[in-house]
Amino acid sequence: MPTREVAAQFDEISQVYDATRDPLEPATVDRLAETLRAAGVASVLEIGVGTGRIARPLLERGFVVTGLDASSGMLAKARAKGVPRLVRGSGYHLPFPDRAFDATMLVHVLHLLDTPREVIAEGRRVSRRGTFAIVRPRAGRPPEERPAFTARRIVYRILAEEGYPVPDRSRGPPHVRERELLTELPPDDLVILTDRTVTEPMTRPLEMLARRASRHTLNVPPEVMARAVAAARAEVGDRTFTYQRVEALATWRSQPLPAAVA
Ligand SMILES: C[S@@+](CC[C@H](N)C(=O)[O-])C[C@H]1O[C@@H](n2cnc3c(N)ncnc32)[C@H](O)[C@@H]1O
Repeated sequence: MPTREVAAQFDEISQVYDATRDPLEPATVDRLAETLRAAGVASVLEIGVGTGRIARPLLERGFVVTGLDASSGMLAKARAKGVPRLVRGSGYHLPFPDRAFDATMLVHVLHLLDTPREVIAEGRRVSRRGTFAIVRPRAGRPPEERPAFTARRIVYRILAEEGYPVPDRSRGPPHVRERELLTELPPDDLVILTDRTVTEPMTRPLEMLARRASRHTLNVPPEVMARAVAAARAEVGDRTFTYQRVEALATWRSQPLPAAVA
């Protein structure tokens, strides 16, 4: 999907984005900060900075962070949170000279890109250490067996019955796309940031749909969505699901400069 269309979708969901996505856990950000520092990183360009969900905690840990995003709505939210250096633009054409930053970061952006390889390469061009991305690297149970998907599937079933288009899952959910990319373009390093068992209510995945923060259902009228979400809530009740949350930092290193100019 062209960048301007993705940006238009994120403009729409920017108002409710933070209320429907978990912040990174403090221990995960601490481990991220430690890993970046060990790699010699002090300045970071975050491509797809969004509302500053990652940029803000990195600023608080002393990094110099510049955020780039195609969506002005998301950038406005990041600005309101005090992220000072923000640029509107495309990850495919970064408006910065070669090696302008120590590192380039991508968090929950790779799955949105038609050609992530190009953005990773642009990130390497403008950074001295390389492109870093937080990814979910481990294959879990197939989606159809995952209880987390049950509530969402009920919503999509009801929407389909009422004649509304349901998300095209042919590209797979975000973490599956990320995993494919790790195979297609293996990173130079992969450091585990989080690996723990989490138990959540099965209604949790419905929050994003109920608050209309999913790009896939923006065209569904609010009253139809409310009805479908209510039916899904009733069906899953107060059951919980348990899964392994694994987040890792992948690095595609920049080429070192020849000795004469390094
Ligand atoms: C799912 S949000 C993630 C935001 C933030 N990194 C986080 O983890 O909360 C994806 C962001 O990437 C931006 N984005 C998607 N494709 C982009 C592109 N080609 N160039 C610049 N920004 C892009 C969207 O506008 C959106 O703000």
